[in-house]
Amino acid sequence: MKLGIVGWRGMVGQVLMERMLQENDLSHFETTFFSTSNAGGDHPFSKMPKVDPKLKDAYSLPDLKSMDIVLTCQGGDYTKEVFKNLRNSGFKGFWIDAASAIRMDEASTIILDPVNLDVIKKALKDGKKDFIGGNCTVSLMLLALGGLFKANQIEWMTTMTYQAASGGGARHMNELLNQMKFVTDRVMDKETNLASRILEVEKRVTGLMGDPAFPKENFGAPLACNLLPWIDSDLENGQSREEWKASAEGNKILQSVKDIPIDGTCVRVSSMRCHAQGMTIKLKKNIPIEEIELMLAEHNPWVKVVANNKTDSLKYLTPEFASGKLTVPVGRLRKMYMGDDYLNAFTVGDQLLWGAAEPLRRMLHIILE
Ligand code: HSE
Repeated sequence: MKLGIVGWRGMVGQVLMERMLQENDLSHFETTFFSTSNAGGDHPFSKMPKVDPKLKDAYSLPDLKSMDIVLTCQGGDYTKEVFKNLRNSGFKGFWIDAASAIRMDEASTIILDPVNLDVIKKALKDGKKDFIGGNCTVSLMLLALGGLFKANQIEWMTTMTYQAASGGGARHMNELLNQMKFVTDRVMDKETNLASRILEVEKRVTGLMGDPAFPKENFGAPLACNLLPWIDSDLENGQSREEWKASAEGNKILQSVKDIPIDGTCVRVSSMRCHAQGMTIKLKKNIPIEEIELMLAEHNPWVKVVANNKTDSLKYLTPEFASGKLTVPVGRLRKMYMGDDYLNAFTVGDQLLWGAAEPLRRMLHIILE
């Protein structure tokens, strides 16, 4: 099979390539790397067997059309510019995409195989060709709670998210560091113990956030020493687009017979690449906590149930722990004051791995089966 990869140089693309090399994925394909800016140029994978040593033009419909599979991490603007024209030009191959541009289209299947392999297999059997990665927060939530969804025990749930800078992109991560530096350079360039005058220092820090030189071109606001309770566009119904995705995408991934309402508030915080979320889950019935833990732990090989105590929560339920790992820890599992059918949970996961790159490379193997 001929595989074309677009957007391999970007942040998600780099994470994808790292995983593909670890798993020797390229050995199964004849691979061509595409570029939006350097067609004919070289690329770092040119010495590998069955790899075209030169870059092809990512806007060339004939070159893309000669592929059996096009996998793109190039972003939504590229998808919008190329996908329809490519299909109209007669491309009958598979389109695997990390971007959200065509995710909710009727013809698209959202891929998260540990949760919806049956949905993916049915789509393949039905001749569907467009397979799109889900929103990172939604995918990580479904992996963490897969056992409860599979047992059909969730009546509704809320998700309060703590989303990392990486969700915005590489420039956003860089900006977060620059914001931290902007502040610390100005309040602690010599002294590191400011405790005795901390209230005065805090005033200065808060003041610095309004300084015209404060770097906020990408986030549009200070994230360092702050948080941002709005992610993505305003749907003008009170909801942000990121919040809308939870129910819309979640139920599309699951192909639930009856939609499960999922809603909450999405917040950007200053972690680097791991999204976390606190969840209130209304169960259909009172299930003992030990049974819930077992259900969750047995659902897939990546979920890690964390014991609900302070030591384990601070060790395993953090962006620090989850960074760079496929493991999706879920913890803080306890029944709430509202009643025995109300479950509290907290999860965290690497938004570049399961949240973006991993479902795409796994889809390649599902196609090969
Ligand atoms: N929309 C997500 C975020 C990242 O901004 O964190 C992409 O899924």
